[in-house]
Amino acid sequence: MSVRIAVIGAGIMGADHARIIADDVPGSVLQVVCDLSAERAREVAEMTGALDVATDPNEVIHRADVDAVLIASPDDTHAPLTLRALDLGKPVLCEKPLAPGSDACWDVINKEIQIGRQLVHLGFMRRFDPSYAAMKQAVDDGVLGVPIMMHNMHRNVSAPPSFTGAMAITNSAPHEFDIARFVLGTDYVAVSAFQPKAVDSARVGAPVLIILETTDGQLVNIEINNNAVYGYDVRGELVGEKGAVSLNAASPTRLDLDQQSVTAYAADWRPRFAEAYRLQDKAWIRSIETDKPSAIAANAWDGYCSSRVAEAGVRALLEGQKVMIDMAVKPTLYAVDSGAEREPHP
Ligand SMILES: NC(=O)c1ccc[n+]([C@@H]2O[C@H](COP(=O)([O-])OP(=O)(O)OC[C@H]3O[C@@H](n4cnc5c(N)ncnc54)[C@H](O)[C@@H]3O)[C@@H](O)[C@H]2O)c1
Repeated sequence: MSVRIAVIGAGIMGADHARIIADDVPGSVLQVVCDLSAERAREVAEMTGALDVATDPNEVIHRADVDAVLIASPDDTHAPLTLRALDLGKPVLCEKPLAPGSDACWDVINKEIQIGRQLVHLGFMRRFDPSYAAMKQAVDDGVLGVPIMMHNMHRNVSAPPSFTGAMAITNSAPHEFDIARFVLGTDYVAVSAFQPKAVDSARVGAPVLIILETTDGQLVNIEINNNAVYGYDVRGELVGEKGAVSLNAASPTRLDLDQQSVTAYAADWRPRFAEAYRLQDKAWIRSIETDKPSAIAANAWDGYCSSRVAEAGVRALLEGQKVMIDMAVKPTLYAVDSGAEREPHP
């Protein structure tokens, strides 16, 4: 039987997920598209052939003809809607971040511990991107020797009008917090954050440079520039003792013409990570069918970790100094091979 999906939030990401679920994920059915705006829900439902539309996310989660919920509404709605779905034992694919703050992430962790199962798949889709997967493979195979540093650049064309400097750390950088942690198989102990004085740091989407120290003594640096103007551009290089591995340019083609060689940039993240979103959504449906969490996907614990790093990062930026990152002990529900006991959230 097909898994009947409700997509909640039919904006840029919700529409993209709805299209993927409708066209590209065998074993699933796009049952309902829900948005506070009835018009937007209808538009996306018409575009994707969804069976129904709705405007109340809580009602949708309770519907008997909805088996699983894909949450793509704004950040502050993620944890409350996820908790509601978990109350009914329904699996969730929640867009990142799990919550703007780590306390709310911990509420989701506690709920999963209470029901004794992982039901949350968090939308850190870069884990499914083939270029990051190859980078991780190189680390895991040991061909680079000991990994030492990871350089990351994350550039958007322009920041939305409501985008504060802190949001570079709480909304954009969590992708890098998660992917570097995943590729390196490590955690972070400290974070520093800087802003170039050449531009007004109070302006919308002002750039931020973040430096993380890992528990294994590596350095991870992240440039977030949400007003890069020229295109959407994500770069990354992992440096090991014996060599380095870089993500290649995103463009599938290069145009050689008039004594020039040109590769095009996309206007936003969707083309660059199209395959990652597709593989992620397929893995989510497979995890529901098999009743086993995906080994690649981020879970609620990973969501907590990135929110915790983001909180420390914002402090580091505001205080102008390095901040140590205080993590709770990983609950056994999320441990692959450790017998760590659950401890209170610090
Ligand atoms: N994984 C990624 O690469 C990626 C990229 C962009 C955005 N995101 C995340 O996806 C989420 C959505 O971002 P977006 O760019 O699509 O935003 P958006 O503003 O385009 O869309 C959000 C939609 O949610 C609707 N909405 C608001 N509150 C709602 C509620 N309570 N119930 C139902 N619908 C509600 C709005 O009407 C709007 O249509 C954000 O949390 C963002 O952080 C993830």
